[in-house]
Amino acid sequence: MTKIAPSILSADFSNLEKAIALCQSSGADYLHIDVMDGHFVPNLTIGPVVLKSLRPKTDLFLDVHLMVANPGDLVEPFVKAGADSITFHIEAVTNPEKLIEYIKSFDKQVGISVKPKTDLALLEPFYGSIDLILVMSVEPGFGGQKYIPESTNRIKQIDSHLKELGLRKQVLIEVDGGIKLTNAKMVKDAGADILVAGSAIFNAADPYAVIEQFKNV
Ligand code: DX5
Ligand code: ZN
Repeated sequence: MTKIAPSILSADFSNLEKAIALCQSSGADYLHIDVMDGHFVPNLTIGPVVLKSLRPKTDLFLDVHLMVANPGDLVEPFVKAGADSITFHIEAVTNPEKLIEYIKSFDKQVGISVKPKTDLALLEPFYGSIDLILVMSVEPGFGGQKYIPESTNRIKQIDSHLKELGLRKQVLIEVDGGIKLTNAKMVKDAGADILVAGSAIFNAADPYAVIEQFKNV
């Protein structure tokens, strides 16, 4: 089954408890938490205080996507708030190795994300030391954007490179941005293990049914 990570960015922020209960009961695998700081991206979203309130409401894996200029500063606050994995952007850091080790020192999973135009070669030195690659299929910052078609080839490239290195089971590929029921199969066939979806789920008339359908892609 496809792993689905609903992004609560498109949920009703006045009732996040309802949104996460829906994710949990419909069989979602992860809860994707989009953290934006108003610097790395223009938008401002969820901080550790919010995550801390969500943590006791669910057993779901909390997949924290840091779209921030100084990810190192937020690792400890998000870990303490209950994050299960921390994903940072390669474009935001000068020493990824150091940040990977720092996140691991808290016994948490580590992901690295790449924006749509970032050279994938930048990721290669770190394939052996991370749990997840988060491929952005829109420019980060806002939910509800259109999937960038070139992303499919980027997923394929990462997938085949991981296979060549014998790391395909160890490193998961997560794809984030513009994922709908109409393109989910294509993205999965390209090599995605986890699909992030925000607006496709939370703007739907029946979000529960949409999560179920994503799982059966
Ligand atoms: C974009 C975020 C995404 C976004 C996905 O910067 O990282 O997780 O919420 O939303 P949709 O599925 O609406 O593109
Ligand atoms: Zn995200």
